[in-house]
Formats: sequence, structure tokens, C-alpha cells
Amino acid sequence: MDLSGRDRQSIWHPFTQAQTADPSIAIVRGEGAYLFDEDGKRYIDAVSSWWVNLHGHAHPYIAGKISEQARKLEHVIFAGFTHEPAVVLSERLLKHLPVHHKKIFFSDNGSTAVEVALKMAIQYWFNRGEKRNTILAFNNAYHGDTFGSMSVSERGSFTKPFHDFLFDVIYIDAPTPQNEDRAIAQLESTIENHPLSMASFIFEPLVQGASGMLMHNPEALNRMLTVCKEHGVLTIADEVMTGFGRTGKFFATDYLSEKPDIICLSKGLTGGFMPMGVTSCTDDIFKAFLSTDKMKTLFHGHSYTANPLGCSSALASLDLMEKEETWQAIDRIGRKHLQFRMEMTAHDRLRDVRQRGTILAMDLVTGHDSSYFNNLRDLIYNFFLEKGILMRPLGNVMYLFPPYCISDDDLDYIYRCIKEFLSSLK
Ligand SMILES: Cc1ncc(COP(=O)(O)O)c(C=O)c1O
Repeated sequence: MDLSGRDRQSIWHPFTQAQTADPSIAIVRGEGAYLFDEDGKRYIDAVSSWWVNLHGHAHPYIAGKISEQARKLEHVIFAGFTHEPAVVLSERLLKHLPVHHKKIFFSDNGSTAVEVALKMAIQYWFNRGEKRNTILAFNNAYHGDTFGSMSVSERGSFTKPFHDFLFDVIYIDAPTPQNEDRAIAQLESTIENHPLSMASFIFEPLVQGASGMLMHNPEALNRMLTVCKEHGVLTIADEVMTGFGRTGKFFATDYLSEKPDIICLSKGLTGGFMPMGVTSCTDDIFKAFLSTDKMKTLFHGHSYTANPLGCSSALASLDLMEKEETWQAIDRIGRKHLQFRMEMTAHDRLRDVRQRGTILAMDLVTGHDSSYFNNLRDLIYNFFLEKGILMRPLGNVMYLFPPYCISDDDLDYIYRCIKEFLSSLK
């Protein structure tokens, strides 16, 4: 039996309805922007394998650094102990983060980076003796699959079985270009209506990923953060998807002059090699947990917190992120996308062709149900797989989110296939 068949006998896959799903494609090797399956078929990874891969698959430099570290120290408990890769990684990340961010807290993935951020924000007020328990989030938000991160995400089909168990959040609109002033006014009035209880505002900066790569402008988001600052509301930027160059700058919040108090990172953090999350915060937040009273401790941690192999892959990925060539590649992808976007803007089967840096997205006009579950999603997915392109649409939203090593030729090929797909619908 091949790997796909054996997989079916023993594995429960994420976000997959096993009864109706096609067999999983067994990948045996990755190289640059390509994945190779067990039959030797090659796929261009146009979505960076769930938005994690930055510099290409099986990148020899990152692989080498992990292997070096594995021979030195694979893991050590992170309470009462520390190690060089974690110290150096924290120092180097803080250099890229807003200047008032002074501490890094390690966890395992994007959802846990968000859990930690929420706990920091909630306990910050608790430790100060203030009963602030209202949290603001954007409509259409996605922050992860654990209970805290589900609570601050849009209530929808994915979260429905758990609604009775999620904590209350007040949702406001993201400031999309059509809705900027209204969204800002809504934020302002919501905060003013809860003068003593507003704890925190969590948001995906500039691009709301899982809900369909919805985009808003930095100026409007900046105004929202200013309102929060004026009212003492802690702000949490979930940069799990947008971090590490995706939006054209190192972090999406680099587009803002008003900086968040807490930032969540994961996905690209390790270049797509190892599962790891971090949550950074300001000195003011950290200091609210300092006390001779043990009850003020942040009682949170995971067995693999600050795993040295994760840290070494993050350090190696940072080495590559800091190279001129990487930023040239990010610019190149941005310029290629822009050209294609201009060409496709007026296409009658597309709506809202949009871009932020290396992220390009477009809605397919369907005329009917455009949810994640519509059949069009499968049609698009299978069409591109057939063409040797891994592109996982979000409902009727087609998007590209490539690793930075993708070639111009591969981008041109993907653009051609998009046009071919659109023609096939006529
Ligand atoms: C903005 C954002 N936050 C959090 C998460 C959750 O990350 P993870 O899947 O690593 O738990 C995701 C995942 O897609 C995300 O896009």
C-alpha cells in the first residue's frame, strides 16, 4: 500500500472531512518553492504550506543549523533554566520589534502565542487590581483554534459546536476602505460605552487572513490604535500570518506610527521548519507581573517552551531575513503581483483584486453561496493541483502567498493558470 493509503488507516487530518475528502497527497521531498509527491509529481507551493515557509523547503542553511543544534542540546526545561539560542533569538527579535517591547514569551504555535497575549492583557488588569474584562476584536477575525483564540475569532461554522463555551467578546468592523470612518467611530463609541471595563483590543494588522485575505489600510488602523491608547486599552497585534516580510515590511505594524502593546508571532518565525510561537510585550506590561506576591505570576508554559531546535531554526531564518537578497525577492514578488493585479482588476469574473506586499488575493464572482464550503472551492483547488500548483482557496477567494524564493517563471506560470481557470468558467 502506498503512503496515502496507509495514512488513511491511521491519521485524522486537520480541517478535513475524512468521509468525503480525497486521499492525502504524500509528499516525500521539498526543495525551494517545490514539493514532490511519492509518484514524483512536482507542486509549486503557492501558499507557503499554510503560510509558514519563507525561504524555501528543506533550505540547506536552516537544516544545517538545526542539525548542529540537535547535536549540542535538543531541549531543556525553560523554567529555572535557559540557553543561548533562546537568549540570542529574543535579543535579535526585540531589535526588529517596536522599541518599547522589552520581553519575549515563548510558546508553540500561533494559537498559543494568542492565548499568551490574551492572558497577559487580562492578568495585567487583574494584577493592577482593576476589573477590566471586556475584549474587542474585529468581525471576520481568525486567531486560532484553542478556546481563547476561538473566543476572539469570528463566530462561524468552525466554532459553532463550541459557542456555549467561548467567552464574550465585542466585535467591531475592520476599517476597510469603504468603511473607515464608520469603523473608527464604532470603536470609539464602544470604548466610551465601557469606560471602566475595556481590557484589550486584538486584531490582525492590515490583512485578515483566514476570513479571505480581507485588507485594510495602515492609516485607518493607526487611528484605531490611537483611540485605544487615549483610553488606556491594551492593543494586541496578531502578526502570526503577517510577520516576517509578507506585507512588504518586516512586520505589518511597521506601517503604523502607533505601536501595539503586545505582538504575537509564529508561522514564518522559524522559516517554516519548527513549530514555535512568541508573544512580545512592553516593559509596562512585564512590570505589572513583578511582585513578591506569587499570585501575580503569569502561570503559563508548555513542555517545549523555547525549544532550542525551534530557536536555532528561527535564528537561521532571521539570518536569511536580514539579507539584502531576501528583501529584493520580496520587492520583486510585490512588483510582479502589482503588474498582474493591474491586468486583472477589470476582469468580469473577479471582484476586489487586492494586494499587500507578497500577498495577492481576488474574489471569484459566483452569483451564489461564496462560503468556505461551496463547491467552487474544490473546483479551484483541484484545477490548480492538476496544474502542479498548491493553492488552497478560502471559499471563493483565490490567493497567492508564496515563499520568497519563488521564481518569476513560476509566478508567471501561476498567473497564466489563473487566467486559464477563469476562461474555463465562461
Ligand atoms: C492571524 C492568525 N493567528 C493565529 C493563527 C493560529 O496559528 P496556528 O495555526 O499556528 O495555531 C493563524 C493561523 O492561520 C492566523 O492566521
